Amino acid sequence: MKNIVLLGYMGSGKTSVAQRLSAVLDRKFIDLDDVIEREENLNINEIFERKGALYFRKIEHQLLKEIISKSENTILSLGGGTPVYFNNMDVLLQNDRLVTVYLNASIQQLSDHLFEQRLSRPLISHVNTKEELTEFIAKHLFERRSDYLKAQYKINTEGKNIDQISREIIARLF
Ligand code: S3P
Repeated sequence: MKNIVLLGYMGSGKTSVAQRLSAVLDRKFIDLDDVIEREENLNINEIFERKGALYFRKIEHQLLKEIISKSENTILSLGGGTPVYFNNMDVLLQNDRLVTVYLNASIQQLSDHLFEQRLSRPLISHVNTKEELTEFIAKHLFERRSDYLKAQYKINTEGKNIDQISREIIARLF
């Protein structure tokens, strides 16, 4: 069976859905951010602060290639920016041992979900109000969406819980 790779904006539920799919389908679960944190022995915020965004993107690119070349029977959740940097999206699309799934969440849904967690996320930790966050996400998602939309499967997550999203992915893929 092919590996399943989940992508989408921060807060779109990639990690939770990947964990659920891994349990339901009895497959291994890998979260790219977790692998980066373990490799660097620092959390994502610390990597951005101490080593910079470019360093993070290079490590992310390298580890993505390693993981997908080795993985079998795996559900992999990416970071929100992974599809956007280097040729990561091409690397994914050219690998016929995996399928890519975009979790398409609305700006409002993302903003509601991310506001409380913003301090643990380097790209939005500077934001002070919900309105500012909504505006930031709207612009940022506009820049990123064309990459996300290259995914082979697109799932709208609006109004759906983790269980419903996971079931829909299974129904579409199998
Ligand atoms: C990022 C998303 C984060 C993490 C890093 C950068 C992004 O992952 O990789 O903070 O550029 O959108 P999640 O989408 O898992 O939060």
